[in-house]
Amino acid sequence: MRETLAANISRYRKNMGLTQDALAEQLSITFQAVSKWETGQTVPDTALLPKLAQALNISIDKLLGYSAFVSDVSHYESDYRKDEYFWGIQPSMMCLKVIELLPPTRPLKILDIGCGEGKDAVFFARCGYEVSAFDFSQAGIEKTKRLADKARVHVNAFRANMWDYRLSEMYDVIFSSGALHYIKPELRDEVMTDYKTHVNDGGLVALHVFVEKPFIPPPPERENHSYFWKSGQLFMYFHDWHINHCTEYAFDCNSSGIPHRHAANRLVASCAKQA
Ligand SMILES: C[S@@+](CC[C@H](N)C(=O)[O-])C[C@H]1O[C@@H](n2cnc3c(N)ncnc32)[C@H](O)[C@@H]1O
Repeated sequence: MRETLAANISRYRKNMGLTQDALAEQLSITFQAVSKWETGQTVPDTALLPKLAQALNISIDKLLGYSAFVSDVSHYESDYRKDEYFWGIQPSMMCLKVIELLPPTRPLKILDIGCGEGKDAVFFARCGYEVSAFDFSQAGIEKTKRLADKARVHVNAFRANMWDYRLSEMYDVIFSSGALHYIKPELRDEVMTDYKTHVNDGGLVALHVFVEKPFIPPPPERENHSYFWKSGQLFMYFHDWHINHCTEYAFDCNSSGIPHRHAANRLVASCAKQA
């Protein structure tokens, strides 16, 4: 929570156009105190939270990273509490594309967004990448850590919500398989810009999103907070990057116990920043 709070204070302060000094003045504290909150060295006193939230024009819940959320995601929570791995432990095909294009011949940092129970994150760690991974499901994070322990590798796995978690460091690879449709459409531009600007020069994104197709019926599992992408939309976000691989395909799925089909777009693109 400390990391989320630190990132939120910094993000919403900037959104309000406030300097650290200006925020500190409103709260009758020093700018050094604000700076320490934003780097996660300290957290604000609880008595200050109402005033801080008011100054940033958000609720205390939102400040703490508990934006009204997604009871539906709890279906993952209960699925992941079972002993067996809901998604299995075999890495997704997209992992192989990453290894092919950016093998870990030097220290490389990967972030797996919506990592589930960690099959891809742990695979990357086993291959020698330095891996961070987050998911909204606490059970998923615990299972990711257990899978990493079993493989005797380290994954920096933590719980966070894509809706309000913003990146605070740069990565060589940003990876996400089957999770970005949980970003609310009105947040999509902001979140994708955040991900895009946190990839090192020469780094990659490897992203897999579910898309709507008129000839594929909606999936039987009804989730209120799932927003399938438009076909091709993902590629547009990376029109100014080198596209290594982009594809659309349909596949069978049985995740709800009822056989159905999904369509997906998969993109692997390299970041080449201008000189
Ligand atoms: C279809 S699963 C994919 C899991 C994993 N990437 C894999 O391929 O095994 C989607 C994942 O997104 C996570 N998720 C859903 N909403 C989220 C959110 N707002 N923030 C972070 N993770 C979220 C779910 O908990 C779930 O683990």
